[in-house]
Amino acid sequence: MAQRVLTGYRPTGKLHLGHLHGNLLRMIELQEQAECFFFIADWHALTTDYQDPSRLRTYTEEMVLDWLAAGLDPQKVALYRQSDLPEVAEFQLYLSMITPLGWLERVPSFKEQQEQLRGREIATHGFLGYPVLQAADILIVRADSVPVGEDQLPHLELTREIVRRFNYLYGETFAEPQSLLSPSPRIPGTDGRKMSKSYGNHISLADPPEEIRRKVLSMVTDPARRTRKDPGDPEKCSVFELHKVYNPDRLEEIAGNCRSAGWGCVECKEVLAERISGSLQSFRKRRRELEEVPGIAWKVLEDGLRRTRPLAKEVLAEVRRRMGVD
Ligand code: TRP
Ligand code: SF4
Repeated sequence: MAQRVLTGYRPTGKLHLGHLHGNLLRMIELQEQAECFFFIADWHALTTDYQDPSRLRTYTEEMVLDWLAAGLDPQKVALYRQSDLPEVAEFQLYLSMITPLGWLERVPSFKEQQEQLRGREIATHGFLGYPVLQAADILIVRADSVPVGEDQLPHLELTREIVRRFNYLYGETFAEPQSLLSPSPRIPGTDGRKMSKSYGNHISLADPPEEIRRKVLSMVTDPARRTRKDPGDPEKCSVFELHKVYNPDRLEEIAGNCRSAGWGCVECKEVLAERISGSLQSFRKRRRELEEVPGIAWKVLEDGLRRTRPLAKEVLAEVRRRMGVD
């Protein structure tokens, strides 16, 4: 049973369906069951985007508004911004002393991102230390559960290795945090790849209905359906993958209409767009109401910080004591 839960989001702007089904729905559930700390990982964003920080603040604010509109309740969870919690930075320094270089070079995202983000100089100290910073995020509040997507598992494993090493060197101090992998469906973007802002294939939670419709109509489908009369195979179509999430009770009908060419892809997509739009209606309403309240995102972050900081200070004081710098 989860007791203290923590997770962070890099501020990349508005949240999209990939976030929602990836772990946001789970986070909304967890706020009822556990003590939750959810934060904006703006230092992590800087490790790859330090050359253009101009939108960091806007992205942070947008993400917080989306969190609130989606149903995270600042009375129940502490929402804060990483860069407002200097204890994390100092803690990362200590953890970096005990983390062997080889562990960091072995983390898959280190090499992958070097290749994906070509053109950006990210062979930096900061980027190599990305997982150490993440370990500091987690341990600064002694989180025992971390809801993340599968891509984050190597980082979580590294946090556990760091815990073992810390405990071995300085005595039993931290428990090993566990990852909370929610059984989330794959959410394809409009081009069929995993939905991600960096691919530009995303549907944002705040998109107006016309925009959702436009994006769904642009989705790739089974390439065998070249004309309206060609039958299709729903299992080869990313529109159908989204129907599995949004129309689970109509799957047979939808698959049948695809295989018999009873529906054209446009009809099939209209049904999906309608459904996605409808499911986000109250989100859009709450989002608009929140936008009317000046500075609400920053107030919420300030309040979350106030609740997190004493705990962070306590943990850091213990680390300093253990490492002889008290
Ligand atoms: N690396 C995570 C991501 O890219 C974000 C993150 C930073 C995080 N610190 C964390 C997630 C601590 C969980 C716990 O999504
Ligand atoms: Fe995909 Fe629907 Fe077209 Fe079939 S009818 S190929 S499921 S969009």
